[in-house]
Amino acid sequence: MLINQPLLFQIQTKRVFPKPFLKWAGGKTQLLDQLTELFPKNISRYCEPFMGSAAVFWHIFSLREKEKIDFSLARLTDANAELVNAYCVVRDDVKALIEILLAHRKNHNKEYYYKIRALRLNGLSNIERAARFIYLNKTCFNGLYRVNRSGQFNVPMGSYKDPAIFDEDELMTASQALQNVELEVSDFRDTLQWAQAGDFIYLDPPYVPVSKTSSFTSYTEKPFGEREQKELFSLFCELDNLGCKVMLSNSWVDSMLELYKGFTCIEVKAPRAINSNSEKRGKISELVVINYAP
Ligand SMILES: C[S@@+](CC[C@H](N)C(=O)[O-])C[C@H]1O[C@@H](n2cnc3c(N)ncnc32)[C@H](O)[C@@H]1O
Repeated sequence: MLINQPLLFQIQTKRVFPKPFLKWAGGKTQLLDQLTELFPKNISRYCEPFMGSAAVFWHIFSLREKEKIDFSLARLTDANAELVNAYCVVRDDVKALIEILLAHRKNHNKEYYYKIRALRLNGLSNIERAARFIYLNKTCFNGLYRVNRSGQFNVPMGSYKDPAIFDEDELMTASQALQNVELEVSDFRDTLQWAQAGDFIYLDPPYVPVSKTSSFTSYTEKPFGEREQKELFSLFCELDNLGCKVMLSNSWVDSMLELYKGFTCIEVKAPRAINSNSEKRGKISELVVINYAP
């Protein structure tokens, strides 16, 4: 009971756990309770080759802090180089990053947004690139990430009154949590080079579109189409043969159910926008495939 403790002591004893500091399409925060039920009991190392906002990693890290799960090493990778650079800077240079983010927050307005968006990456340091990435992520339309053919970010500004660009404590907590984490820009096909028996690997690729109007399949210059989904299935099978515990998320569509029919396919319910009208929100089915008994 903390009731009779001085306030300062109560504040000091409150444990803070990391959580996503980015808005990311397909982020898994809303599904964590359902996914946790399906995590394997024993993990030697954890690997997430489509890290995005890393919602699952932050959660699994917090479970380890609470001594509910254990793993010795974590490796987070993604093909989006700007995203991975932001995590590296949060891990290695968080104070310098916060200094630049404070300036972005102070100067934020329409003109400033487009000025920062227009900056060429090759003229910036890694810390400036990370601050630009986080600033644009939190102020652009819906936190979308889209680049043109020459790799230049081209999402318009969102219409937020007072966007929360960052939270200093949240970034410091994330930085602590990332201290011994391996981070790398990498294509999912390279996962096999690192994987070994006993690893828990969570695969959360760009989803197969459920309809012609929900066609957001890319977070990088390269699209993620049918060919990539089939290559990912081959990777799933190879990791299975190697003795890894593999969990994969995707859309609940016939083509995916057919592809993964040799493994355990589970339906989870995600609160997502079901069509372009964001007013019409509901729960939609999503697929989780696992190759082990949870
Ligand atoms: C559905 S999101 C992952 C969301 C993440 N689990 C979260 O909670 O935010 C898919 C991710 O795959 C990455 N990606 C796209 N193509 C890739 C590829 N060929 N190899 C590795 N990552 C890729 C994207 O940059 C994106 O971050």
